[in-house]
Amino acid sequence: MTETYPGPAAAPPSVPASPPATVAVRCIVDGEQVEAPQVWIADSLLFLLRERLGRTAAKDGCGEGECGACVVLLDGEPVLGCLTPALAADGAAVTTAAAYGEDDRVAAALAAHCGAGCGYCLPGIGLSVRDLLNRQPEPSEAAIRESLSGHLCRCLPPGPFVDAVREAVARG
Ligand code: FES
Ligand code: FES
Repeated sequence: MTETYPGPAAAPPSVPASPPATVAVRCIVDGEQVEAPQVWIADSLLFLLRERLGRTAAKDGCGEGECGACVVLLDGEPVLGCLTPALAADGAAVTTAAAYGEDDRVAAALAAHCGAGCGYCLPGIGLSVRDLLNRQPEPSEAAIRESLSGHLCRCLPPGPFVDAVREAVARG
């Protein structure tokens, strides 16, 4: 029996060039101009800060938007670092808790009232509280609790945090 063979295989269709998987991100972090030359387009802002720029003030808690440990300010607005694309920071200003010293009124009040805990949640909570006080210099208890509602603390009940915000208000 005679076998027949197909002719030469047709050339595969040309594949369009892939977009680059990494890009450079330039931004200002805590007042300092920085650049990360190779940011994967799927990286989160939290990963950019912690793993590519070595800025560890924002904490990695749940990694899925549930705990608030990763909150930073992006052009002054609180965002969840774990759910925000790193590329969103390009050309923007990012503020972490490291921008504030111990004499900052919010940092001092949190240290005074919440020092019994491990402190892991405090950087993110501090930024949400500062955002609240920027918008409402004398917030109601309901507003304070609302601003804290996106943050999980494994160590302390809400009371010490409410007291800390009240003291920060009193410190002016
Ligand atoms: S680490 Fe982002 S919300 Fe928990
Ligand atoms: S103080 Fe430990 S998680 Fe809040």
